[in-house]
Amino acid sequence: MILALTFRTILVIINIAAVAVIVVVIGYKVLSVRREPKEKSAQNLTPFLDDQELEGGHLERVLRWALLFSTIVAVVLPVYWVLEPNRQTAEADGFQKRAEERGATLFANSSMPAYDNTKSLLCADCHGTDAGGGSASYTITPDAIGNLKARPIAVTWRAPALNTVMYRFNECTDAELAAKAPNCTRAEQQVTQIITYGRAGTPMPAWGVAGGGPKNEQAISDIVAYLKSIQLSPAKARAQVLQQVADLKAQAKSAVATAESNLADAQAKLATAETKKAKAAYQIEVDAARESIINSRAFEQQIANASQGELLFDVNCARCHTKGWSYNDPAKPSVPPPAPAGSGAFGPSLRDGSVLEQFPGLPADDPKTPGFQKQYDWVANGVEAHKGYGVRGISSGSMAHFGAILTKQQIDEIIKYERNL
Ligand code: HEC
Ligand code: HEC
Repeated sequence: MILALTFRTILVIINIAAVAVIVVVIGYKVLSVRREPKEKSAQNLTPFLDDQELEGGHLERVLRWALLFSTIVAVVLPVYWVLEPNRQTAEADGFQKRAEERGATLFANSSMPAYDNTKSLLCADCHGTDAGGGSASYTITPDAIGNLKARPIAVTWRAPALNTVMYRFNECTDAELAAKAPNCTRAEQQVTQIITYGRAGTPMPAWGVAGGGPKNEQAISDIVAYLKSIQLSPAKARAQVLQQVADLKAQAKSAVATAESNLADAQAKLATAETKKAKAAYQIEVDAARESIINSRAFEQQIANASQGELLFDVNCARCHTKGWSYNDPAKPSVPPPAPAGSGAFGPSLRDGSVLEQFPGLPADDPKTPGFQKQYDWVANGVEAHKGYGVRGISSGSMAHFGAILTKQQIDEIIKYERNL
């Protein structure tokens, strides 16, 4: 590997050889002076070539050498000029590729080829090895429940897909993207921000030194480079959203099955319990399992009856706008049900007419209403951080936007749902 004769190694070898020659020549001169201490006559007294030789053969020889070196310069400069842009692009690509490789290692978990047990941060454990989304075990603290006497609750928190994250945070216009505008780095900045500071109150930790995490800016930018390199095509990103809706429906169905099997287990235990104390304990389990069957059925009903707008809201928006949605688990008695849809979490409440205040206009769910259109612009494209939206909104830049991964019709459906919350 090291001995492979690349252009680079050849240059290194030539350089080493040149240095070696210089050392030998200097050494020889020094030693030869020592060995022959005999004095030489001064140079201005030493006879040199006569005029005939100087202006004839000697001059010609000097000129021949000059011609040779001029030719070398004349040939090499254009060759350099032709090759240099390619070398520069290759270097820039290589730079990018090495950043992506380092990012891949940081992202990986032990089931991935890029994994390195001294470097990897295991993002893939929560976000999925294909970055298509996953889940994380998390504990809701008594503090977060608002009752210091409550028990901590173990939940499974959904982690969003990252193979579409650049689309969601990229507020750059299509024209900017097509032109690969150099200033089109809004998504990069936002994702860097999230990774650096994490999401307080969720399993997403801060990874950057600035956020109290372990990694410097170089590492975070390597991760962002990796994420950029694995973004799905727009068509696949759209398909993934529909898959998430299908998964949600499947999850609602399986919750009922899980709750029913939990009840059967608890009943079996109750039937074989001998002591009074054990009976009482299993009775509590049976009651809880019965309740979770009711909750799971209600959830299944809700999903089955949900409009397309509600389902799309669930998979795209609820994690930021509905407290508890991300760890909703109706089959598990200990997990509290989510707050009313859209009542606010990381993003503000969208309920009880608050979006109609922000984007006014009636009829509320007619896509031609001016407020509806403004709300569409906001949800599809948003505005840059610190700029205004709606009547009194100021963008923080931290809301995801969906123009690139949802169709106009899908976003209209979501907005109709929101305007009636
Ligand atoms: C312990 C699990 C866990 C680990 C490890 C983890 N994340 Fe997250 N991450 C989450 C969860 C959960 C969320 C969603 C938080 C929420 O509900 O708002 C999230 C959110 C994000 C988001 C925001 C996405 C969006 O659309 O809002 C980004 C970007 C992200 N993570 C990147 C990373 C990177 C990069 C790593 C590795 C350096 C990483 N995460 C490691 C759990 C994790
Ligand atoms: C990553 C978290 C996140 C996701 C995902 C998200 N939002 Fe938001 N949303 C926010 C934040 C934060 C704000 C507050 C504005 C700001 O900070 O820029 C907001 C504001 C809004 C507002 C304006 C509310 C007001 O009264 O000012 C609307 C409407 C909205 N979101 C709709 C949606 C819809 C629809 C979706 C899904 C298609 C969605 N959001 C997904 C975080 C999110």
